[in-house]
Amino acid sequence: MGRPLRIAIDGPAASGKSTLAQRLAAYLGYAYIDTGVMYRAVTWAALQRGIPVTDENALTRLAETLDLDILPPTEADGRPYTVLVEGVDITWALRSPEVDAAVSQVSAYPGVRRALTQRQRQIGLRGRVVMVGRDIGTVVLPEADFKLYLDADLKTRAWRRYRELQDRGEAVSFEEVLETMRQRDALDQGREVAPLRPAPDAVVLDTTAMDIEEVFQRVLALMEARCRETPHVAG
Ligand code: CDP
Repeated sequence: MGRPLRIAIDGPAASGKSTLAQRLAAYLGYAYIDTGVMYRAVTWAALQRGIPVTDENALTRLAETLDLDILPPTEADGRPYTVLVEGVDITWALRSPEVDAAVSQVSAYPGVRRALTQRQRQIGLRGRVVMVGRDIGTVVLPEADFKLYLDADLKTRAWRRYRELQDRGEAVSFEEVLETMRQRDALDQGREVAPLRPAPDAVVLDTTAMDIEEVFQRVLALMEARCRETPHVAG
């Protein structure tokens, strides 16, 4: 069977993208690239430095110049990668409710997107990647040879995220998580540049009633079917 060399997975928060992408990447021996990490790192650095999330120019400069490294995991604490900003390990800090609440506002600025999209595209073009985000199939890597759009209803996604935060000991209520997610969905879908939406040639999969294993098996089957339709895809 031929295999897609560039796999793009998009969808809203907690639709199951990261878990699926990690499994697919391990299965295929590909790199797993989570583009959301870059938007989160810029947001985290802005909060640290007291840059207001309304200051588009300062945020753009930050995205253009931030010393950001994404490495294979340096600790065996369940992290899929290690993220360094100026040499400091911020892997878990990126997942805080404060970053969650601000990241979609930061990621809506065209200058921020331009800077990060450029970095992401360079990585994606190398091939043998499973790349995850909001605009991979539409903007970052439109030439991807397998595009997937994962979705799930809002309550289910908020519940998944709430359980993740609880497992890490973050003190948040389900209602807060639900409200943050509702606002992020609206910002991500409503922004002018690279809004969250399926690429016209993406396969759309609703994971509301599916567990991780079901999603993985279903996607493998979809990928094989897609490769049979387009036998020129490299193997
Ligand atoms: O893990 P979760 O799905 O909650 O979020 P994420 O993938 O880490 O992305 C965080 C935020 O970054 C999203 O809500 C978007 O606002 C932004 N983002 C984006 O605009 N474009 C991407 N390719 C990836 C993330």
